[in-house]
Amino acid sequence: MRILETKNYQEMSQLAAEYIIEKIRHSAQINLGLATGSTPLGTYSEMIKDFEKDETSYQHVRTFNLDEYVGLDNKHPNSYNYFMRENLFNHINITEEQTHIPNGMAANIEKVCQGYEELLEKQGGIDLQLLGIGKNGHIGFNEPGTSFESITHKVKLAQSTRLANARFFTSMDKVPTHAITMGISTILRSKEILLLVSGEEKSEAVKQLFYGPINENFPASVLNTHQNVTIIGDKKAFAGII
Ligand code: F6R
Repeated sequence: MRILETKNYQEMSQLAAEYIIEKIRHSAQINLGLATGSTPLGTYSEMIKDFEKDETSYQHVRTFNLDEYVGLDNKHPNSYNYFMRENLFNHINITEEQTHIPNGMAANIEKVCQGYEELLEKQGGIDLQLLGIGKNGHIGFNEPGTSFESITHKVKLAQSTRLANARFFTSMDKVPTHAITMGISTILRSKEILLLVSGEEKSEAVKQLFYGPINENFPASVLNTHQNVTIIGDKKAFAGII
């Protein structure tokens, strides 16, 4: 694992955006795995600024999001589909056909999951996967206890994750109970992984990732088995650790 420490969230976002942009500029075609949540927001905003100023083209980029809630349609402001359009896709030169997010509104969720795996395979897999981490070590919506062998699947959300995401909803009962997520093994098939960590609330998870055992009780621990992981984090996330 390569570890890059930054002063603060803003610097983390800048560095992460530069990292991703560099890859885009140097690849004829690139498949990006994307995450939602608070952590990558600054990165996306830096990518948008760069697009406006330096005109990095997304013409040859395909994106594949990690996850989506079950039961929220594209127009729902809390769907990850909406999030991605609002915070990135609508502001860069990328068409809808180039972007992929599991469809949480489909009648047959199993089929969506299987189709997502097939799509990833057909498109040559993910070159660079961007990740955030949950306080309980989840990556994507893979909660503690998820098999390291898992592929894209439907999950019941842990109460702690629903609580953490409740800030985006008007009330707790509006927070979806299920989601679709790439599995751990799907994530690990990415050629490269870029994990972002910010703030002291993530420092316990970072400590566990660095020094804890590699097992399914802490899903992110599996990243220690991947050949090409870079972690960009701010001082607060690394406090007392490195
Ligand atoms: C989002 C995702 C989640 C988040 C994690 C951290 O697509 O897959 O695993 O990365 O919950 O969320 P934030 O960044 O909001 O702390």
